[in-house]
Amino acid sequence: MISEQMQKALYKQLNDEFYSAYLYLAMSAYCAHIDFNGAANWLKQQYEEEQMHATKIYNYLIEQGAHVVLKEIPQPPSEFGKILDVFKASLAHEQAMTAKLNNLSDQALKEKDHATYNLLQWFVNEQVEEESTVGEIISKLKLVKEDGYGLLMIDNELGSRAAPKAVV
Ligand code: FEO
Repeated sequence: MISEQMQKALYKQLNDEFYSAYLYLAMSAYCAHIDFNGAANWLKQQYEEEQMHATKIYNYLIEQGAHVVLKEIPQPPSEFGKILDVFKASLAHEQAMTAKLNNLSDQALKEKDHATYNLLQWFVNEQVEEESTVGEIISKLKLVKEDGYGLLMIDNELGSRAAPKAVV
């Protein structure tokens, strides 16, 4: 059994993961609208991945005997600017998520809640990969600037992202 405070904190994280999914779907819709269909694919796969993150927390809470009460998911933005701005927004979002997960890990350690701490370490490791992947995309976009051919190449590459493997 986990503490009331830890349950509350994980409910919040569950909602944040669903918001992440929603945000990536909004980014995907925006990229499809501005004809960056490869980026739209990449972001849609990320939407799928974020839903799995939410489900991973949901499953853990159920396993721990919690009564999960789902909250409203905030509305994400619908305009993101240039393609580089989309991925900058993604990186800023992931950095904020990392900070939340680090705080949650601190809380789990303080409570000597090692089961939750273990769960959270999976997420902390995942964040390293996510920040690094988005960082690489940003570097490439900065490199090509407004060059149409370069942007097309990057968009093609983003279009090859396959569906994520199930993590739950
Ligand atoms: Fe659920 Fe993008 O980390």
